[in-house]
Amino acid sequence: MDIFRIEGPVRLSGSVKINGSKNASLPIMAATILTAGKSVLKAVPHLSDISVFGQLLDRLGCQVTRSHSGDLYIDSTTIDNPRGEYEIVRKMRASICILGPLLARCGRAEVSMPGGCAIGDRPIDLHLRGLQELGAKIRLKSGYIIAEAPHGLTGKDVFMGGPFGSTVLGTANVLMAATMAKGRTVIESAACEPEIADLANCLNKMGAKITGIGSARLIVEGVRQLRPVEYQVIPDRIEAGTFMVAAAITAGELKLLNCRLDDMMAVVDRLRNIGVTVDAANDGCVVGRNGPIKSADITTEPYPGFPTDLQAQFMALLSLAQGDSVIIEKVFPDRFMHVAELNRMAADLRKEGATVIVAGVKKLVGAPVMASDLRASAALVLAGLAADGTTVVNRVYHIDRGYERIEERLNPVGAKISRESI
Ligand code: UD1
Repeated sequence: MDIFRIEGPVRLSGSVKINGSKNASLPIMAATILTAGKSVLKAVPHLSDISVFGQLLDRLGCQVTRSHSGDLYIDSTTIDNPRGEYEIVRKMRASICILGPLLARCGRAEVSMPGGCAIGDRPIDLHLRGLQELGAKIRLKSGYIIAEAPHGLTGKDVFMGGPFGSTVLGTANVLMAATMAKGRTVIESAACEPEIADLANCLNKMGAKITGIGSARLIVEGVRQLRPVEYQVIPDRIEAGTFMVAAAITAGELKLLNCRLDDMMAVVDRLRNIGVTVDAANDGCVVGRNGPIKSADITTEPYPGFPTDLQAQFMALLSLAQGDSVIIEKVFPDRFMHVAELNRMAADLRKEGATVIVAGVKKLVGAPVMASDLRASAALVLAGLAADGTTVVNRVYHIDRGYERIEERLNPVGAKISRESI
């Protein structure tokens, strides 16, 4: 098991290239199930979540390989085992997004029910309801979802809103299933996240007929078959946001290459409120801070609102603000495992239900801390960059799920992070 030893405080300066989006890559990898043949995906990041998803596709019968140039090849000519095993699904909940495409391709799918995780219960009722609307028969057996549509799926109007708004992977599942359903499907209250738009654009390149891309109403005219695709995934807006906070929390300046500010308006708005400059530049932006960190209130919401996947990182930043901030989590109300860890580093955070009151402190102090989930661990690394002394982040495998060798990308711009195996 690896740990990070982080020496702080540091001031970051230089350029960082943002990788392809993990959360766009996963459903797009699943989309290749819909067609028989070899697809080529470009800019898919080298992350443990991507490897796990590749293993999942391998078990179905696909062949997943990486070329020397880093392109991901998925040959989905044969799918002879439409089953997502517990051993893989328990490692990564996003595995659930094979359900819709398997059902459309094979008329049957068995996928282990994903359990909860550090950020909450994470139900999948909306995924199942949406697929049932398209005509799938669904039952649960020994912890597995068994979905059947031996005579194919039929297009319908499907409402995907739930108590916390839209669902990202639920929309992906129903959208993929609908591409080959008979007739027209309207997905209302669809997730508008850029990753869903990227999936829809990829599906259209495969021959699907989807309109309304990027809106809350997706209209899908079913087609008989899709073809293999060559497709480049969008840059990772969450990784970009994490590096933006890295520049801000260290009073540094970073140029981010391959970053789409258009996907990040809510994040940029909050950063500017906090006293951080964000200027568009060729193919990306320059982010920096000269003055103090100003307090700000943040409410996480589905896109285009402020993303829950950056809540923890912004909490680390605001813990050093002048004055009090309020952070309200409206997507995953229990996603606050980082609060106690940041308090160990001398932050002053008080959790009240799904709200955290952040009383700004003058400095953070290095301490041993425990990573609990992907984005919470990113917040601890960011706090470690700004804190006085040594921060040791345990359970670094959480961060490796979503950030490719983050220490090798932060060290060249001024961080002092060493990875040690214990
Ligand atoms: C995706 C992202 C994750 C991000 C999240 C919200 C991937 C691989 N993961 O997760 O990084 O934090 O979107 O932006 O893309 N819900 C239900 N019933 C359902 C499904 C969801 O009530 O059937 C609730 C969830 O508990 C949560 C909210 O809806 O409160 C949003 O969850 P959802 O958008 O589904 O998250 P994921 O797609 O799993």
